[in-house]
Amino acid sequence: MGSLREELEGILSREELAKLRAFDLVGDIGILRLPPELLPKKREIGEALLRVHRHLRTVLLQVSPVSGEFRTRRLEVVAGKPRTETLHRESGCVFRVDLEKVYFSPRLAHERMRIARQVREGEEVTNLFAGVGCYSIVMARHSGARRIYSIDKNPEAFRMMCENIRINRVGDRVFPFLGDAREVVASQLRGKADRVLMPLPEAARQFVGTALEALKEEGGVVHFYDVGEDPDPFSPSLRFLEREVGGRGWSLRVMEKRLVRSYGPGIYHVVLDLLLSPGR
Ligand SMILES: C[S@@+](CC[C@H](N)C(=O)[O-])C[C@H]1O[C@@H](n2cnc3c(N)ncnc32)[C@H](O)[C@@H]1O
Repeated sequence: MGSLREELEGILSREELAKLRAFDLVGDIGILRLPPELLPKKREIGEALLRVHRHLRTVLLQVSPVSGEFRTRRLEVVAGKPRTETLHRESGCVFRVDLEKVYFSPRLAHERMRIARQVREGEEVTNLFAGVGCYSIVMARHSGARRIYSIDKNPEAFRMMCENIRINRVGDRVFPFLGDAREVVASQLRGKADRVLMPLPEAARQFVGTALEALKEEGGVVHFYDVGEDPDPFSPSLRFLEREVGGRGWSLRVMEKRLVRSYGPGIYHVVLDLLLSPGR
């Protein structure tokens, strides 16, 4: 960020420089988010980012928030080659992503490794919202998981997940499913998992029953992602979970809770690592 600011000195005013926001680097694509006041300078800022990060070939401007069931966003090319697809390297894995057709965030790299490190030898894992397969593939590469069932409803994400499974050579352990997590679990994946991942903070609350259905009879671990707010980002999620889980005849223990990242002032992407057992 510092070097982008320096590159733009003399092109943007001091007030404009102060308004620059953090950008993301995904493979050879840079993604900018700009406040309305800076939109007239989007091309100059894009060109400057290409000069500062010499491996970049394209700079995109995010022109809509991440939204909808598939968690996608609209992007506009502001510098370099006009494309939205790239290969991104993370934790010894490589992911093909089309940034306009699927969800992807490089900011979750640490969280993906944190989860992978918890997996014990021989575990079976169900990932309800796998996207292009990042959590599942990092886990296959860095843990002794035996099988990782990876579901996504977005056909484009499923297609890229299949390719990512192939290029990372984890097809003996990561099994892709196209469809709604509720239906896929009910029809094919009931009671199979020692561990369930729910990386869809905006809607994970609607899938608590599905997560319990996916777990083995004796229970297991659920990584529950949610949106939390200051001054108490975790208690509302926990109260909700206790009600939902208790109402279904299960009990829970929180093993860990953490802020994954900030969404904006006082609003966070949070995770609760839960140990779930049948009976109250
Ligand atoms: C926030 S993204 C996370 C993707 C991936 N875990 C990652 O971190 O890159 C959530 C994903 O859930 C998928 N999704 C949304 N509703 C779903 C449903 N009912 N069943 C299965 N997948 C769903 C979306 O298509 C999207 O790819």
